[in-house]
Parts: sequence; C-alpha cells; structure tokens
Amino acid sequence: MRACSQGSARAERLSSLQVFANNSSLHGISHIFRHGSLSLRRVLWALFFLGSLGLLLVVCMERVTYFFSYPHVTKLDEVAAPNLTFPAITICNLNEFRFSRVTRNDLYHVGQLLALLSDRYEIRSPHLAEPQLLAALRDKANFRNFKAKPFDMADFYNRTGHDMAEMLLQCSFRGSDCTAQNFTAIFTRLGKCYTFNAGAPGNELLTTVKGGSGNGLELMLNIQQEEYLPVWGESDEISYEAGVKVQIHSQEEPPFIDQLGFGVAPGFQTFVSCQKQRLVYLPPPWGDCKSTPIESDFFTSYSITACRLDCETRYLAENCNCRMVHMPGNANVCTPEQYKECADPALDFLVKKDSEFCVCRTPCDMVRYGKELSMVKIPSKASAKYLAKKYNKSEQYIS
Ligand SMILES: *[C@@H]1O[C@H](CO)[C@@H](O)[C@H](O)[C@H]1NC(C)=O
Ligand SMILES: *[C@@H]1O[C@H](CO)[C@@H](O)[C@H](O)[C@H]1NC(C)=O
Ligand SMILES: *[C@@H]1O[C@H](CO)[C@@H](O)[C@H](O)[C@H]1NC(C)=O
Ligand SMILES: *[C@@H]1O[C@H](CO)[C@@H](O)[C@H](O)[C@H]1NC(C)=O
Repeated sequence: MRACSQGSARAERLSSLQVFANNSSLHGISHIFRHGSLSLRRVLWALFFLGSLGLLLVVCMERVTYFFSYPHVTKLDEVAAPNLTFPAITICNLNEFRFSRVTRNDLYHVGQLLALLSDRYEIRSPHLAEPQLLAALRDKANFRNFKAKPFDMADFYNRTGHDMAEMLLQCSFRGSDCTAQNFTAIFTRLGKCYTFNAGAPGNELLTTVKGGSGNGLELMLNIQQEEYLPVWGESDEISYEAGVKVQIHSQEEPPFIDQLGFGVAPGFQTFVSCQKQRLVYLPPPWGDCKSTPIESDFFTSYSITACRLDCETRYLAENCNCRMVHMPGNANVCTPEQYKECADPALDFLVKKDSEFCVCRTPCDMVRYGKELSMVKIPSKASAKYLAKKYNKSEQYIS
C-alpha cells in the first residue's frame, strides 16, 4: 500500500512536469516532454531547443560584456554663435629685461645668471659687443667702491620688463581705440607679459559679434630691439630671437606661453584667425578625463595649464625652497643664485625629461582656440617713409 502510494506520487510529479511543458508558451518544450517513449522526433526537438538556448545565452553574454566595456561615440557639432566672449590674449616680448633699466646693483646680482659677467664679476666677452653698448656695460659693471644693496628678483622682473605703454604703437578693438591700460601685466616664464581682455575685476569681458578682421583686436607693437640684452652665453633667461610670443586662451586658464604660445616676427603683419572649440569628454569609466575639481592652493578652476603650474610650483618648493617670479603663492622668490643652480635646471627637467611628476589629465570640459596664421611684410617700400614720419623714427629703424 505504501509502495503503491509512493509510485503514484512519482507518476503525478512526472505528469505535472508534462502538464507544465504542455501549458508553457516556451515554444518547443511541449514537444520534448510529450507523452510516450523516446523518439527521434523528441531528441531532435531537444537538440534544437538546447541549441537555441545556448545561442541566446552567448548573445546575451556578448552584449553584457560590450556594455561593461563602456563604449562611446564621438560627436561633432558646429554651431554659429551670434556673439562670443572674446578670448584672453597674452603677449610677451622675447627679451625679458630692458638693457637701459638694468642698474649697477642689478648687474652685480644677476650678471652671472644672464651670462654677462664672469664669476669674477668681469665682463665676459667684450669682443662680442658693439662699442656703444660695451661702453654702457663697462660703466654699469664698474664695481670699484661699490656696495651691494638688497636685491629682489620679482622687483627686477617688474622694473626691467618691457612696458606695454612704450611698446604699443596702435591698438584697436572692434573699431574703438584701446590703450596700455586695457592690458593687465602678468608674469610668466618669459618675464613680464601683458594680457588683453583678462577679465580683471572692474573690466567686463569683451564680446565679439560676427567674424572678420574688423571684429577683433589689431595691434602694432614696437619690440624695442635696441633694449635687448647682449647675448654672450646660454641661460634660460635669455633668448636669441627677436619678436613677441602670443597665446590665445580662455580667461579661466592661466597663460603658459613658453610652451603654448606662437611667435610673431618683427617686420611682418601677422593675421590670426581663430575658432573657438569646446571639447566635452565623457568622464570615467567611458573616457579618461578629470571630472573632479582641482586640488590646488592657487587655482580655482581646473585646466591643464593650472595643473602644470601648480605642480611645478610644488616641485620647486620641495626641491629649491623657493618659487620663480611667475609662480603663484607666497613662498620666497628665488635669488639669482637659486635660479641658476636649482630652479632653472629643475624646471627644465620637468619640461623635458619628466614623465611622472607633472602629469596633468585633460579636463572633461575645455575650450581651446584653433588658429590659422598668415603674414605679410610691413612696411612696404611705399609706406616706410610715411610710417617713419608718423612714429618719429628713422626709416632704417622701422624696416
Ligand atoms: C550676447 O549674448 C548674450 C546672451 O546670450 C546677451 O546677454 C548679450 O547682451 C549679447 N551681447 C551682445 C554684444 O550682443
Ligand atoms: C610693478 O611695478 C609697479 C610700478 O612700478 C607697481 O605698481 C607694481 O605693484 C609692481 N608689481 C609687482 C608684482 O611688484
Ligand atoms: C579700455 O579701457 C578703458 C578704460 O579702462 C575703457 O573705457 C575701454 O572701453 C577699454 N577698451 C577696450 C577695447 O576694452
Ligand atoms: C623725434 O625724435 C627725436 C629723437 O629721436 C627727438 O629729438 C624729437 O623731439 C622727436 N620729435 C617729436 C615730434 O617727438
């Protein structure tokens, strides 16, 4: 009796599976669990069923793996904006110190850094100098009965750097005149530079409406080559070239002109057409941009240049115990000896060799300016006389 009831329960269970199979809307399953003995038909159904199920699982797996590879598409959109904020434009003369402003005390302290004096405070290469310049230098380098006074690199950069008011011959923005007051002085690795439309407090940002050359900034500069320091050696503070360097950047970004600027040659008129490009990257895990705010004591908004400057400042503070004039913060400014022995080599190392310490990631949202440059000669033979008269210079000076 007991055995009998057990047997019937098993028969019931089996049949309930068959009942489920018969009622299931899962196609094919009813053909597999059909009443009756094992037949070729049921085996074929089972094979097809398992085959399809396997295929389904494989495709599902593949899709899930694809999802976790964080795929993305790149989208490019071009919009014509009715008005745009004009970018900040930073301009540096390639010469960092004006010869006429260098005093005897300055020369005493920085003469070696600028490769003008030997370590015995004597003029290094008199045969390389023009007679006039040599006479002026001899006078400044006359240290007999001279008592050195305190010296500060920041003040030296500020005092001897080229002055915008002297360099600027003509300036207009969208037809209205501008003056040296519309430029903000800023220190960079190239010395004292000037930024137009820096968005300094009290000066609202300029906008420009439609493209075209009349809608931008037009400048005529005198690079004052007669003020260039004589070059008698190699140092990071002197350049062999004449001209200015220019960087077009957004107001949130500090200038990083020694690396990112383009050069403008004297004796030419250079046209720069510029296209604003806003790049938005997907944050991790899709992309590899920096979405977190900047961890810095000096800057509030993240950009590659802010990160680089911040990093270089920290590196110098750790290794040389001072900061260069263009670096932010309140640390002591390096002395000329520290510049020569520590700061310049350290910064060169960071720029040229290092691939670990100052690695800055791309921000997730950045603005950059695509540029196209072209140049023509100025003055022409026809205009040289007129310009010479207008600016009270000799024709030889102007061309
Ligand atoms: C530029 O556009 C903004 C709004 O998008 C407007 O407030 C501003 O007045 C415009 N400026 C000019 C010069 O048209
Ligand atoms: C640079 O010099 C000007 C005047 O000569 C002064 O007003 C300014 O504060 C100085 N700037 C720095 C950073 O020393
Ligand atoms: C230049 O500055 C003056 C006074 O600070 C201001 O009135 C003028 O609009 C500025 N010009 C430009 C082009 O920004
Ligand atoms: C022109 O420059 C010379 C020196 O180069 C100067 O003596 C003269 O006063 C200047 N003239 C004017 C109108 O500025």
